Amino acid sequence: MSGGGSNTHQRTCCGGCCTLLISLGFVILIYWAIFQPHQIRATVDYAELSNLTVSNASSSPVTATYHVAFNLSLYNPSKRVNIYYDTLDAELLVRGAVLSPAAAAAASPTEFYQRRRTSQAVRLEFDAGKGVAVPGDVAPQLEAEVKAAAALGLELSVGVRVRYVFGSIKIRQKPRVWCEVSIPVPSSPGGLGVAGSGGPCWVKY
Ligand SMILES: *[C@@H]1O[C@H](CO)[C@@H](O)[C@H](O)[C@H]1NC(C)=O
Ligand SMILES: *[C@@H]1O[C@H](CO)[C@@H](O)[C@H](O)[C@H]1NC(C)=O
Ligand SMILES: *[C@@H]1O[C@H](CO)[C@@H](O)[C@H](O)[C@H]1NC(C)=O
Repeated sequence: MSGGGSNTHQRTCCGGCCTLLISLGFVILIYWAIFQPHQIRATVDYAELSNLTVSNASSSPVTATYHVAFNLSLYNPSKRVNIYYDTLDAELLVRGAVLSPAAAAAASPTEFYQRRRTSQAVRLEFDAGKGVAVPGDVAPQLEAEVKAAAALGLELSVGVRVRYVFGSIKIRQKPRVWCEVSIPVPSSPGGLGVAGSGGPCWVKY
């Protein structure tokens, strides 16, 4: 037994602690850099509705045809982190019931890179020219709204795949954007219903 051995032991122990502290500090630094206000914000700037028809309720199932387009604006509030948007997967709903056409919504752009503190306009189009089945429980309400030529309450749900980029570190996340939009039903069958801006949007991580 010599004092030297225990010194070495103490030194390695201290070295281990320092390494641990430094890595912990590094992790906190990165966490701070990335998880400062980083949640994207969304707003609907414009929405339009055209070619809306709802089949007679006595037919079963009730089908609807429509063309709906949204101009969505996505904002990256971060001061340090840039974001890659890899996919945008949009769905249209009426009172929680999916009313999307079989074909996926056309997004433009489909993917993009967003620098810090910038906003990106995205256009999302749903074309149900071939008709979609309206879920039974929402069909009567939808018919009533269309007949009354009132405003049609729609919900836009967009699943987004993003990569946060901080230096060489990339973090994947899958937030969901949820917006409520009320678009006036066109008074004539061929007309266009337009909403200048939508209701609020929520972004859930
Ligand atoms: C609406 O329907 C007409 C005829 O069915 C078609 O020519 C037109 O392209 C449609 N408009 C949209 C925006 O889908
Ligand atoms: C719906 O169907 C009923 C019964 O078949 C008919 O009396 C009514 O006129 C139809 N309404 C429309 C708008 O086609
Ligand atoms: C909506 O977006 C399209 C395509 O980006 C653009 O051409 C159009 O001007 C926009 N409409 C409004 C009202 O912002």
